[in-house]
Amino acid sequence: MSVVSLTAPAKVNLYLHVTGRRNDGYHLLDSLFVFTKDGDVVHVRKSDRLALKLTGPYADSLRYENDNIVLKAVRLLASICGQDCNVEITLEKNLPVSSGIGGGSADAAATLKALLILWNQQMPIKRLQEIALSLGADVPSCLQSRPVQVSGIGDILKPAPNLPSFSLVLVNPNRPVSTPEVFKKRLPVFSDPAPFTEDMKNFDDFIQALQQRHNDLTQAACQLEPEVLRVLEVLQADPLCRLARMSGSGGTCFGVFPNVQEASLCCERLSRKYPDWWFFNTFVH
Ligand code: C5P
Repeated sequence: MSVVSLTAPAKVNLYLHVTGRRNDGYHLLDSLFVFTKDGDVVHVRKSDRLALKLTGPYADSLRYENDNIVLKAVRLLASICGQDCNVEITLEKNLPVSSGIGGGSADAAATLKALLILWNQQMPIKRLQEIALSLGADVPSCLQSRPVQVSGIGDILKPAPNLPSFSLVLVNPNRPVSTPEVFKKRLPVFSDPAPFTEDMKNFDDFIQALQQRHNDLTQAACQLEPEVLRVLEVLQADPLCRLARMSGSGGTCFGVFPNVQEASLCCERLSRKYPDWWFFNTFVH
């Protein structure tokens, strides 16, 4: 196989409760993660040295990074699998960076999966999850790329119950937000976990259930980057948007819609009005 190409979908936290804090400073979370149909794309192929090529609209945001999580993933998996690191990776960066939708984590997860295909190697999923966790708290869930209830620091995964179909519009003000800064800034209060345990067939019931939950990192992210609050207010004010919320540690926010037509209408309207923001009209995979 000459090139292996995999999509690294965006991760969206439909809600995110911070439920505690470990002694090592990491936070305990309760969250429903869903993954979008499209996202970044990772292409890997054998080469004579380890190389990373960046393409796509957000490539420049990563150009001057010391080390990319994708390269860390290659080195780590190569040493565990007894392979050399001589692969060329092309990372098509379509998602904004430092934006609360798991970009780097999704890229790392896609790289791990693509390398196993390239090297024609099998690995028990539990072992792969451990490797993923050592790269970042969100990487294990990104390996799954399907709706998942997440707890622990992001390492305890349970399949989410069935959800009704819905569409999303993701909006980012094109201002990076630092995850460690957001966790540092938040007030030290904790929420109860509220995992989804039963199938949700009806869209209105689903929205009602989401309204009973929240994202505990919103206030801190909006304080660090007030433009995130503007995005939330704009989405909330749209007559077609049934629920507006921030994902992860921000600043990407999302609107939930019952179908792709309504999501597209909102997306077209708002992207005309706010040409400096990033818009992504998508649905859950
Ligand atoms: O693991 P990851 O690199 O994604 O986390 C970035 C930072 O976010 C951590 O260094 C930590 O400060 C914070 N974090 C946390 N609790 C989590 C996940 C991340 O405190 N569950």
